[in-house]
Amino acid sequence: MDIAISLNTNSLPLHQQLYEQLRAYILTGKLPPGTRIPSTRAMAKSLNISRSTVTQSYEQLLSEGYLETVIGSGTYVCTQLPDDLLHSKPVELGFGTGKDAHSTRVRLSQYGKILADTENVPRVHEGKEEMSFRYGRPAFNEFPIKLWRSLLSQYCSASLNWLDYSIEPLGYKPLRGAIANYISRARAVNCTPEQILITNGTQQALDLIMRLLIEPDNTIALEDPGYLSARLIFQTHGAKLLPIPVDDNGLIVSKLENYSNQDIRLVYVTPSHQFPTGAVLSLPRRLELLAWATQTGALIIEDDYDSEYRYGDRPIPALQGLDKSESVLYIGTFSKVLFPSLRIGYLVLPQNLVPIFTRAKWLSDRHLPILEQQVLTEFIEQGHLERHIRKMRSIYDRRRQVLFQALYSHFGEKVTVFGDKAGLHIMVHLQTHLSENEIIERAASFGVGMMSASTQYLIPTCKNEFIFGYGELNEQQLIEGIRRLKTALNTNVFKSI
Ligand SMILES: Cc1ncc(COP(=O)(O)O)c(C=O)c1O
Repeated sequence: MDIAISLNTNSLPLHQQLYEQLRAYILTGKLPPGTRIPSTRAMAKSLNISRSTVTQSYEQLLSEGYLETVIGSGTYVCTQLPDDLLHSKPVELGFGTGKDAHSTRVRLSQYGKILADTENVPRVHEGKEEMSFRYGRPAFNEFPIKLWRSLLSQYCSASLNWLDYSIEPLGYKPLRGAIANYISRARAVNCTPEQILITNGTQQALDLIMRLLIEPDNTIALEDPGYLSARLIFQTHGAKLLPIPVDDNGLIVSKLENYSNQDIRLVYVTPSHQFPTGAVLSLPRRLELLAWATQTGALIIEDDYDSEYRYGDRPIPALQGLDKSESVLYIGTFSKVLFPSLRIGYLVLPQNLVPIFTRAKWLSDRHLPILEQQVLTEFIEQGHLERHIRKMRSIYDRRRQVLFQALYSHFGEKVTVFGDKAGLHIMVHLQTHLSENEIIERAASFGVGMMSASTQYLIPTCKNEFIFGYGELNEQQLIEGIRRLKTALNTNVFKSI
């Protein structure tokens, strides 16, 4: 059996390090009771240390009751661990709380320390409720899975080249070509395939931008409310955050001018569908923002995460396409139009930043899996992507209307809906005496999952605002969900105006 042990000659004595690592494996259940441990000879050989060092560690573990020897057979993890061990708190695996990191003896970097102290690092909600309005998921059951499977199997067997490292850290070249073609047509983005870096979703694009363009204490302006996962990346890289309010026309660009004494390096915006309010950045504001960036030398991060879903109005061209001074870093993703576990996004870079981002991507994770990139290329080139988007646009449009009607018919003037012209969610304000937590708890007891918008605010301003995702739920579920919400909240607790 191989057990990963890493010994460091500059710290504790080797027998102590071996003892502690084996003990941690036993306590976390990675070496369950009854597991046979390598002999002292085998362990010494595999770690290239003396057998007496290994014997010293094993003896300590034997004397403390973690290990037991079976004569003639070998050494095993004790089947009956001492009581005090069984009652000790299990070592936390997975996300844990940030505080756990401080209690280890490892010294954290500045990034690690900030992350350890950061509250509310979101992760995917397990969604135990029968119907969840939590935002984020597209309609998985509408995804053309048979087609995807057949493309996967076709590319999987066509050659074995995809098994090797890619020679293209920027991403599979035909995919970059297909994306360049698609976004220049659909979003008026102005780029060549050579400016596109394929990333592990929006999140990696933001992470690379932080690593390459931001130093601790640099200032980043961002929409408030805004996308929490972006804000957390900025914050953990030590940036100073400058919250800029949004209204019905998106970011209030004139507020940036109040900060002429600050060296703002970056502005993060979601112009097509402001997250979470749903406002669309108007054309005059787009031009104003670009002019401000050109004048101050700041760069704009344009996160175009769900611009494909617009209902009614004609789409406004991407900021990137209007830019004349290489001020925009444009990010797109397939998380909403296809599925989030694909983990494929793209960053359109000004030409002069391409070489440094290519290096950073290679150092960070080499490149994305080649097979999925090949399949996605074919999916786009054969017209399946745009067909799927057209189909989903009409499904989501219908769902959006159903949700809207259900909310108004149950809650009337006690409900205000924002940002219903695009995307896969709306923002809803409920006028009630109940607190947000009470609303969420009551809804959950009726099998309805709700998501408060409050964590998306840097400066808390509004209460009882909720993000209602409608991508995942079908029309019946949307109607039933709102009916249950109404029952859960009970009309008589609603404020009279
Ligand atoms: C504002 C915003 N940007 C981007 C994304 C997508 O992130 P990713 O591409 O990392 O899945 C989301 C998903 O919820 C989002 O809300």
